[in-house]
Amino acid sequence: MPKTTATADLADQVAEICARHAMAEGPMLPILHDIQADFGYIPEAAIPVVAKALNQTAAEVHGVMSFYHDFRSAPAGRRTVKICRAEACQAMGANDLADTAKARLGVDWHGTTKGGEVTLEPVYCLGLCACAPAAMVDGQVIGRVDDARLEAVFAEAGL
Ligand code: FES
Repeated sequence: MPKTTATADLADQVAEICARHAMAEGPMLPILHDIQADFGYIPEAAIPVVAKALNQTAAEVHGVMSFYHDFRSAPAGRRTVKICRAEACQAMGANDLADTAKARLGVDWHGTTKGGEVTLEPVYCLGLCACAPAAMVDGQVIGRVDDARLEAVFAEAGL
């Protein structure tokens, strides 16, 4: 069956990324990072291209993707909220904060709200332990997060 233009374009773009890292030692992670940087996630159609370029199976590529939680298999929401789940933050109520966020958004970890407003992700220490509980909103760390601060973020996102 002939490939659609969009699929062929994606395959070409991914093949170009793979070629860029062909001489690198351990090229899988940099390739996946570059794909995610270009597309915002790792499209399913990219997997066989990466597998072929690295002479591995699609299952091996999937395995790496699922081991490293930063790789997405679907586009993220317009805002990404990461809540720290490491020890210092847990001791300061991060679990309750996460439960509140999940209930408010109606998603679990790695989930995105139906309208694509917010993606919720866990993170393991943001280096802001002294200001626990900590979170990261669109790449910016915030400390002493409480329900009200999270609610403000969600409201800004249009929820
Ligand atoms: S444990 Fe949460 S920022 Fe370090």
